[in-house]
Amino acid sequence: MRLFVAGDIIGKPGRRALRYMLKQYRQVVDLVIVNVENAAGGFGITKKVYEELKSMGVDLMTSGNHIWDNKEVFGFIDEVDDLLRPANYPDGVPGRGYGIFEKSGVKFVLINLMGRSLLDSNLDNPFKTFDRIYQEVSKETNIILVDFHAETTSEKWAFGIYADGRASLVYGTHTHVPTADQIVLKHGTGYITDVGMSGCWYSAIGMKPKEAIERFLTGIPQKYQVEEQEDVVFNGILVEIDPFTGKTTAIERLQRYIKREELLGVL
Ligand SMILES: [Fe+2]
Ligand SMILES: [Fe+2]
Repeated sequence: MRLFVAGDIIGKPGRRALRYMLKQYRQVVDLVIVNVENAAGGFGITKKVYEELKSMGVDLMTSGNHIWDNKEVFGFIDEVDDLLRPANYPDGVPGRGYGIFEKSGVKFVLINLMGRSLLDSNLDNPFKTFDRIYQEVSKETNIILVDFHAETTSEKWAFGIYADGRASLVYGTHTHVPTADQIVLKHGTGYITDVGMSGCWYSAIGMKPKEAIERFLTGIPQKYQVEEQEDVVFNGILVEIDPFTGKTTAIERLQRYIKREELLGVL
């Protein structure tokens, strides 16, 4: 089973980069999963953007702390089954955090979790949430994929090893910066600390740098805007999972720098 996974997609430049890459890869992979927490103008997701992503061949969407930024999401997150928010939000929060899916006759589980270190301490413990979900879904399939949306490398690595041998794949999102530590762990879990973002690369992790610099110079909060005037980078991973054992057999990074002019006709 061949997976194409993208990290945080930042606004229109990120969506363009994704469409550009899917033109080459959609036909040669079984499953496409994308993190959409910044997909609509850098903040959250709208129904229109959700539909645009579906039209380009995205199968499943995960998210993170920015999922609630655009209030439109409350109007449709409970109506779709392919858009997840972190599973460790407290009971009663709209949407769902995991699901059992089937693709090309293969059953698998996708779980979205969010770390708590330097991020959101109001959430339930993601390690224990994973245990609870694992107990429920592992009777159904041994293919279990986890988007671990978190800030710190230590929490992500600790979780990767905690889930090694139970999850098929643990990949990190949220920092927007890819790490080079992709590996198959000792007990067969494919792992990377962060997949990285897709968006304009000459930017403050996808946003116009002016406001970010201003904030660091003055300490005063600023209103951020997606950078759209620069060339684009796509960051993702390609993963091969053995459908019989549920183990990852190969994980590689997929990074492509694309000139802005090349993308203008793409969306
Ligand atoms: Fe993000
Ligand atoms: Fe995030």
